[in-house]
Amino acid sequence: MKTLFINIKGLLLHPNEETKSPLRGKELGKSNILENAFLYIEQDKIVSFGQMADTPPECNDTIDCTGKFIIPSFCDSHTHIIFAATRESEFVDRINGLSYEQISANGGGILNSAKKLALASEESLLEEGQKRLDLMKFLGTGAVEIKSGYALTLEGELKMLRVIKKLKINNPDIEIKSTFLGAHAIPLEFKSQREKYISLINEVMIPAVAQEKLADYCDVFCETGFFTPEETLSILTTGIKNGLKPKVHANELGFSGGVQVGVKLGALSVDHLECLGDAEFEALKNSNTIATLLPGTAFFLGIHYAPARRIINENIALALASDYNPGTTPSGNMALVIALACIGMKMMPIEAINAATFNGSFAMEVQDKLGSITLGKKASFIITKPLSNLNIIPYEYGHDFIGSVYLSGNKIR
Ligand code: NIG
Ligand code: FE
Repeated sequence: MKTLFINIKGLLLHPNEETKSPLRGKELGKSNILENAFLYIEQDKIVSFGQMADTPPECNDTIDCTGKFIIPSFCDSHTHIIFAATRESEFVDRINGLSYEQISANGGGILNSAKKLALASEESLLEEGQKRLDLMKFLGTGAVEIKSGYALTLEGELKMLRVIKKLKINNPDIEIKSTFLGAHAIPLEFKSQREKYISLINEVMIPAVAQEKLADYCDVFCETGFFTPEETLSILTTGIKNGLKPKVHANELGFSGGVQVGVKLGALSVDHLECLGDAEFEALKNSNTIATLLPGTAFFLGIHYAPARRIINENIALALASDYNPGTTPSGNMALVIALACIGMKMMPIEAINAATFNGSFAMEVQDKLGSITLGKKASFIITKPLSNLNIIPYEYGHDFIGSVYLSGNKIR
């Protein structure tokens, strides 16, 4: 099956074909738009593109894209989309003045989700997870990382990871990576003996996850009231020994030390980073660890945004992701994430688009298949509605800029 897209107003290409690593500094702001272009796909792959003057002969399936742009599908490298129930009552509590930390300390938050998940069957989690995934595809996401962490028991965490594995099998058009996040919160029954929960994670959960090959990564919520840097180090080290690369939830609510631990262990990414100081910048500057920012969380919780401009100026690799979860950001809309990155963190529109596509692909290690319009990569992209230019995407925040979505060569919208 071949499809030819013609008269594309602007085809957003890879900013630098030579780059085999995430974009940093000024490179993140480069845009390489081929005007008046064609794009040719065969099965699930991009086979050629170029100027309209060089268009191959029309095939049966030729699609006119007059006035429209084509951009790569989004790579959303941080989500928690397997959960049993929404938490809008906590949303209302926060409107009434309670903080996320207060709600968590009262047994809400992650522990609230864990209570609900314990009662949910694998089938219902799969069904709900599929609905969320379908919505994300509809919104232009072509790769997604999904975390466990709403069970906090061996059986429950395995249940979540098995659901993610089934989603992978049932959705070959989207790339899915899976992360073990047993260290998301200390369960109530371990409150006064937290070291026992750490041992359970290290000695039982991680080996079981690794044995069933259920995860690519291991993550820890390193934050006051959740896991300390020492506990984070111990859990991520066990993960590494079991073949799970580290990622860290770090510095969301305070200066947790999570960034330094992540960098020390060569984490693929440290995520959140709303609270960053000189020590964190020093650690990140000379590392390959990607700073993954989740502006939807800062927006939804009303906390301050991560310092994206300084991260870019210090030449640190920056990716954007949604953090889609029922507590701190119940949205998987990457176009909105891009808008919030521009509005809240002063990123330029093209920087935000590159961070949500190309750099996101590195933060979940799918850069060989996705993240840019490149020959041989998957035919996963968004065709916009007619637009005057790409800045309109974040400018008209909350509007729907998407005309259609192709994932692995299939038109899904
Ligand atoms: O990434 N920070 C930790 N985990 C999620 C929130 C989890 C929840 O409240 O359900 C996050 O923000
Ligand atoms: Fe998260």
